[in-house]
Parts: sequence; C-alpha cells; structure tokens
Amino acid sequence: MYTEQTERQLLAALRSGRWAVSGAYTGTPSYEQAFADAFAAFTGTAHAVPTCNGSAALTVTLEALGVGAGDEVLVPGLTWVACASSVLRVGAVPVLVDVEPDTLCMSLAAAEAAITERTRAVMVVHLFGSAVDLDGFTELCRRRGVALLEDCSHVHGATWRGRRLGAFGDAAAFSLQQTKLLTSGEGGVAVTSDPEIHGRLYRKRVDGRGRREGTPPGELELEELPGVQGYNYCMSEFNAAVALDGLGRLDAENARRRVAMRRLDELLAGVEGVAPPARPAALTEDAAYQYCIRLDPEVFGPGAKHAVSAVMTQHLGVHVEPIDSALSDNVLYQPLASGWFRPDLDPRHARELDPSRFSLPVAEAAGESAVVLPHRLFLAPPERMELIAAAVEKARAQLSRT
Ligand SMILES: Cc1ncc(COP(=O)(O)O)c(C=O)c1O
Repeated sequence: MYTEQTERQLLAALRSGRWAVSGAYTGTPSYEQAFADAFAAFTGTAHAVPTCNGSAALTVTLEALGVGAGDEVLVPGLTWVACASSVLRVGAVPVLVDVEPDTLCMSLAAAEAAITERTRAVMVVHLFGSAVDLDGFTELCRRRGVALLEDCSHVHGATWRGRRLGAFGDAAAFSLQQTKLLTSGEGGVAVTSDPEIHGRLYRKRVDGRGRREGTPPGELELEELPGVQGYNYCMSEFNAAVALDGLGRLDAENARRRVAMRRLDELLAGVEGVAPPARPAALTEDAAYQYCIRLDPEVFGPGAKHAVSAVMTQHLGVHVEPIDSALSDNVLYQPLASGWFRPDLDPRHARELDPSRFSLPVAEAAGESAVVLPHRLFLAPPERMELIAAAVEKARAQLSRT
C-alpha cells in the first residue's frame, strides 16, 4: 500500500538532489540513514544497514560475521534459494538441515547433529510468519561457539517473548522485496547490536568505504579507507524513502492482517486435511506474512500443491502459489553450476556442495504439499475469509481421496 505521504516522501527524495549514499551530503541526513536509524529503533537493535536487496543483506552479514572460504553454514532445507546462494557466494558450504513438520522452520535437533568443527554460523529462517525455537537456537549457538544469523524476510515486526525477531541473533537480515510485509520494491536491511559487526556491515556494502562524521554540505559523506574488500550493494534514496514511509504503517497493518488470519484459522479448523504452520507459544506476535496452508497427503494425495493452487486460483481470482520445493529438489538451487568454483579442480568441494547428500525427508515432503496465499488478502475484512475457506473446501472436494 502507499498513501499521499509516500508520494510526498518519494518526491522529496527526488528533489533533494541526493539520490544515493555515494552522493554529496545536502545538510540533512540521507533517507538511507534515516531509514537505518528508524529500523534499528523498530527492531530494538543498535544498528541497521540498508542494502539493495535481501540477498545482499544476507551476503554482507555472512561476511561481517567472518564467514568465508572453507567454512560451513547451516541453512534450512526449506526456504528461498537466496539463503543457500548467499552462503555459496562467500565461498562457504551451505549445509542443508531438515525442518520441523509443524512450523516448517529449521529443526533444533537436526541442527545440533549437523554442527561440525567447520561450522561458522547457523542461518535460521523464520518462515511464513512462524519462527524457529529461538530459545533453543540461541542456547545452541552460544554453547557451540557459532554465530546465529536470523533471516527475518518473512517476519517484519513479529515478536518473541515481546522482543522483535531480528534482535536475537548476532545479526539478522531482512528482504524488502515487493512481496514482503515492509517493501521498497527491491531492498534489504541488516541489523546488529555489535559495533564491530556493524562497522564491517557498513563498509562491506559500500565498496569498503567508511562514513565521515561532520561532513560539510556539498561534500561526500563516504571516505576511502584501507582494510575492507566490499561491493556496491547500497539502497538508493528512493527505495529508502518508500521503506521509511512503510515502516510507520507496519505495526497497524500487521495487526489488521492478524485478525483476518485468526478468522481463517478458525474456518480451516473445520476442513479435513489442512492446517497452517504451527506458531510457537513464545512467538508473542506473529508477523502476519503469507498464509501457508499445509495439505495432508493422506487426504489430497502426494504432491498436491499444483492441483490445489490451480483450483484455488480459479475460484478466488487471485494467484495462490504452490510452496517452493525443498532446496534439494529446487530447480533454482544449482551450486555445482554456479561457476564460482571449479568442480574439476576441487572434487571434494563439489561433493560437499551436492544437495543430494543431505537427508531432508520433512522438508522434501512439506515442499510438495502446501500452498501460499499473499498477505494482501488479509487486509480485507475478516468476514471475507469465508471466500478463502470455500476455495480450500472446493479443492478438497475435487481432490480428496477420503
Ligand atoms: C526467506 C528469504 N530470504 C531471503 C530472500 C532474498 O531477498 P531478496 O529477494 O530481496 O534478495 C527472500 C526473498 O524472497 C526470502 O524469502
């Protein structure tokens, strides 16, 4: 959604004369810095660093945590491909870990079993507005001396025991892409409360440059410093203006969606063979992101996601997505074809990256048996949820084996 205020902010960014972090200081803080400060305050962390997208946020966060060539990073077997490809991009090995059947998020027991002396970080993903067992993962990472990175791309604004998700890990990354709860079209943001991690994050995404305090108007706020190899992964002023504006509405929109989602929970409780992912009790406020509907293969048959999404899309006139397949079955996850290393020169590394070496029975089954509804549907009044429940019932009636 956008309002007249969004239009005013965007126009103000356009007229400011500064369109990028790398543009000259105008005498007022950049939108990028204003969004960083507001987002850090929102998440209850000390620092935020905006990026051009969520994938870049993950990549710079991994590097800022010291992950690099030869390291292993645990990644859930069921998630968007960027989680694993960002690990590949920094030269590390994505170790795919199975998920819990009820939350669809990384299994704590499977993660503990997958940690080796090469594990440098655990990337947990709070999927579809649910969450991993954060109490368990923070304890595990502390005990085993590995970094905890939260991917919060599906949970902007959610809280765990009253604290925002993203404030628990050593660092966290969020996507602000079009389908997310907070969006600037394309965009991302990383948060941390550790000043050293923040220093590396800031410089990594701006070609290694640092921020010059007290810059006179007309001069660059960035200064060239030695010591950090980075890239240009910066967010533009236009994206930052839109993200800053949306942040002000996020809690209210989440609250509104949550009411409609709880109504749909009630309605679906009466339909055989379907259930949303479980939400841990400690997830005090869920994020009201895309509504995932798990399909029982006993009722709908195995791999029913395409058939159910087709029936529901036709019935609702809104595209209902089949869930993404587990990374071991996902056409977008092709580490051996990345071109980022030479399998012929390094066959051991090639074997380590081969997705088929991981045991992911829960992720693989879940990745064929669920559909996903866009969160914008839940801004509708709760009584309209009956239309969605009717579409689910129609799919069940057409496909049911019971
Ligand atoms: C869980 C998760 N992590 C990371 C990303 C990557 O974000 P982006 O598309 O902004 O690069 C996405 C995007 O959909 C995502 O769903």
